[in-house]
Amino acid sequence: MTANTSRSTVLTGIGTLVTNDPTVGEGPLGLIRDAAVVFDGGVVAWVGRADSAPAGDVGHDLDGRAVLPGFVESHSHLVFGGERAEEFAARMAGQPYAAGGIRNTIEATRNATDEQLQANTRRLLDESLRSGSTTVECKTGYGQTVAHELRSTRIAASLTDEVTLLAAHVPPPEYAGRADDYVAMVCSEMIDACAPQAKWIDVFCETGAFDRDQAHAVLTAGMAKGLIPRVHGNQLREGPGVQLAVELGAASVDHVCYTTQADIDALAQSSTVATLLPGADFSTRNKYPDARALLDAGVTVALGADCNPGTSYTTSLPFCIAIAVRDMHMTPDEAIWAATAGGARALQRADVGVLRPGARADALALDAPSYLHLAYRPGVPLVSDVWRGGELAWSAHTGHEKARALR
Ligand code: NIG
Ligand code: FE
Repeated sequence: MTANTSRSTVLTGIGTLVTNDPTVGEGPLGLIRDAAVVFDGGVVAWVGRADSAPAGDVGHDLDGRAVLPGFVESHSHLVFGGERAEEFAARMAGQPYAAGGIRNTIEATRNATDEQLQANTRRLLDESLRSGSTTVECKTGYGQTVAHELRSTRIAASLTDEVTLLAAHVPPPEYAGRADDYVAMVCSEMIDACAPQAKWIDVFCETGAFDRDQAHAVLTAGMAKGLIPRVHGNQLREGPGVQLAVELGAASVDHVCYTTQADIDALAQSSTVATLLPGADFSTRNKYPDARALLDAGVTVALGADCNPGTSYTTSLPFCIAIAVRDMHMTPDEAIWAATAGGARALQRADVGVLRPGARADALALDAPSYLHLAYRPGVPLVSDVWRGGELAWSAHTGHEKARALR
């Protein structure tokens, strides 16, 4: 037996602790006031009131600041080349968003070197970390050839465990007018080549991308290779995405902006999570999803930032929380849960999105006394410290000290 040589860390002086464990604290967020947390060996060893906290090897007094589980980002597209600021500007001047803009990023991604793609993905993961995301799912989808999707899955897999093969994002230019042929290639060669690097299979089921039967074919081919399905659906209009996701037992259906009552009922009776992506609706002036109808029906809701160069070039879940509360009428508690425990449900992870003994020691501290400030102070970078696996992965305070030293 090896001795446990890890050093434990105790966070004390926590104004409000969000545990997401209703058995240890108040309400669905499992809130504990005047709290402490102990990390040991990369996992949470203890949570409770500060006055009964055990001693640790290293102590951090948080001086009344709030601590939450690290955000669980369950939807992002980080492996890409180029950017589409001009398309954004044209949209703000009145152009509608259509799936076709994705082809510009496909071209830029194919033209990028491995090093450029790796560096861009890493840059965006670092940016996510600074806004508190400690688990990040990463999709491919801007290669759309076997070789380019394989390259993207490898890059994603070198940086995160949550790799999604978005094999069918839009039919690429060389398959214009031949989407069925593209799907046939995806269902054989592409999935065969890429599945060993990925955990999830995704498809964009939308007018201008892939229809229900094509999406069904891609998802079931992925499932036959051991991938778990998730779906981009009902983003731009009502359509078959939600029902298809439920029928296949998908982990999540994402966007869900245009829903019928039958879609909401089907989700409520399923284990499929509705992942809402308000950053995309904000940056495309799309209709926000009816979060209240989904929540009131009992659907499990996650929030994601959907970072991508087309619809949502933000990595910030705090920004999405603020929109979800202000414009989608989620309560702050619902929005915080959705960005932490909800994201964990969408990724079928029991070890993240929660601060309970045995869970991963992934947490963030705010420069604020309560999690409410995430919605109450929109646009302010409140995340001040981020721990991953019990280690301090980023601190705004350290950054400030460095900045001072440079003067
Ligand atoms: O999640 N909806 C499809 N895919 C992305 C957008 C991709 C793009 O426009 O580049 C999304 O919004
Ligand atoms: Fe997306």
